Amino acid sequence: RVAILDAGAQYGKVIDRRLRELKVECELLPLHTSAEDLRRDGYAALVVSGGGASVYADDAPKYDPKIFEMGLPILGVCYGMQLMNYSCGGTVERGAKREDGVFDVQVEEGSTLFEGLGSSTKVLLTHGDSVDKPADGFRIVGRSGQIVAAIECAERRLYGVQFHPEVDLSVDGNAILSNFLFKVAKLSGSYTMESRQEAAIEEIRATVGDKKVLVLVSGGVDSSVCAALLHKAIGPERLIALHIDHGFMRHEESSGVVKALAALGVPIDALDATKDFAEAVTEVNGKTSLPLATECAPELKRKIIGDTFMRVTQAMVEKKGLKAEDVYLAQGTLRPDLIESASTLVSSNANVIKTHHNDTQLGRIIEPLKDYHKDEVRELGIELGLPAPLVWRQPFPGPGLAIRTLCATEPYLTEEYDRSSAALAAECARHPELRLTSALLPVRTGDGRSYSYLAALSSDAPPDEQWEALFTLAQEIPCHLHDVNRIVYVLGEKIAAAPKAITPTTLTRDALDQLRAADHIVTQTLTKYNLLRSLAQVPVVLFPVGFGVEGARSIGIRAFITRDFMTGKPALPGRDLPLEMLVELQRRILAEVPGIARIALDITSKPPATTEWE
Ligand code: XMP
Repeated sequence: RVAILDAGAQYGKVIDRRLRELKVECELLPLHTSAEDLRRDGYAALVVSGGGASVYADDAPKYDPKIFEMGLPILGVCYGMQLMNYSCGGTVERGAKREDGVFDVQVEEGSTLFEGLGSSTKVLLTHGDSVDKPADGFRIVGRSGQIVAAIECAERRLYGVQFHPEVDLSVDGNAILSNFLFKVAKLSGSYTMESRQEAAIEEIRATVGDKKVLVLVSGGVDSSVCAALLHKAIGPERLIALHIDHGFMRHEESSGVVKALAALGVPIDALDATKDFAEAVTEVNGKTSLPLATECAPELKRKIIGDTFMRVTQAMVEKKGLKAEDVYLAQGTLRPDLIESASTLVSSNANVIKTHHNDTQLGRIIEPLKDYHKDEVRELGIELGLPAPLVWRQPFPGPGLAIRTLCATEPYLTEEYDRSSAALAAECARHPELRLTSALLPVRTGDGRSYSYLAALSSDAPPDEQWEALFTLAQEIPCHLHDVNRIVYVLGEKIAAAPKAITPTTLTRDALDQLRAADHIVTQTLTKYNLLRSLAQVPVVLFPVGFGVEGARSIGIRAFITRDFMTGKPALPGRDLPLEMLVELQRRILAEVPGIARIALDITSKPPATTEWE
């Protein structure tokens, strides 16, 4: 195993990912981890990551200098290299020549680190400080102009690079990491999916002993894979897999997950709790909400669903006569979730991984997928025999279609409405070539706290060549208008300006059925065009505007591109979304889903908008 000592950069996570891709087991640990602990835990090599500090700064992250004297092979990256050099007696020059971007580095071909590469390689550099005088015994093996880009003390197996070999921008990054792992540290690269599956199964067996394990299967990838893995580890007798259908699942999602797991021999207890959820209420500040089927506020919808989920699960567990002390509750927590909380605490002494393991009312928690990234979970799911459509399912929020149905019983017309409407029209008028009509829709979107208007644009000239310009405008509008955060482009014919009426909408059967049917058509079409994997997530939303058609609603499609799920951008028609696919989507939804007036494409980035509409 390799320990990645995290000096505080987000690059630590990327190093973790890369090492695992190279089939090397690794752990991300705080920089201050002591040499003694590293020796005790049997690490075979260390990588010291980048970080924002300067080695001379008073608030420089703490570390144990003895790590460089343990005889372990070490790769220092960026700050890690400066720290290695400084700790071994060399000097570091402070912030003299900042470099940020991709640079050519001249490398010493005789260095094991650069074996098999040419004499120069393109790398990502992003630093202010740099190595000045190498420590005794070290030699310079890479340069970017005047800057020392790589050092080594081959005798002690200490290597440092100023650049980031872990990112895609460094073209030979993987070769350099491989040279360190396999040629310098002589690791085997045997951390394969198969060996990891065996280890995970062993761990589950050792942890749970002869107790029972409860797993709540939502229909998503993580909980399904978790259930399949547990089944392989402890068999069907001691596994209690529950699925609760709250009534906000997608087309045949509940039956699909039950069937897929049943095919593997995993018995699932599925409960249709649609009625319990529809009638449920919650309390906030001493006030009782409306029942979920009539409640409009997103934060209350979420709270009712969360509370009811716990209540229904607990009732099921009690009915089975299970006591919390006899049961483990399996959760599909993934590695990025743990790393996220670990790296924010890198400089504290807290052991986050441990504090994650707490008791709940439903049993003590185990997290069998805590060593897996999302794509690895998918690989594991395929190995365990789960069907591809389930394994490649896009992330779907727990409250499901309930938060994708924009609820309102009357138009949202504040004093600001007319002024904002005029301001929106003025923004569009700055681009006469787009021939836009704008409409501030009298509905609110938002995360439940900061409500804002939904703005709709349309044009009588198909924007085929002008999507880029339209997207730029969609970035500018929220900057200029503080109460508009999300913008859609309405496909097809130009809309009449500002429809002030809405079609009252709450979480009723007919509204949910409309959304479910449209969502299914979107999934089928994305599958047909092979886009399910390249578009990270495509929320389909129902909104209560009929654009003049009485009693009708409309469908919003948010084709969203993101890797980190923290930021992202809308997919661009013509480039990411075939234009004929948009035509097909529009035609099918309008023809097959009764009561839908228009189809609109969400063209906002995150930030300022979020992925979900509420
Ligand atoms: P936002 O909308 O904040 O969403 O950009 C980021 C990611 O989180 C998902 N999401 C949820 N997942 N319960 C969930 O289980 C929720 O209430 C919820 N809200 C958002 C969203 O689908 C996206 O992947």
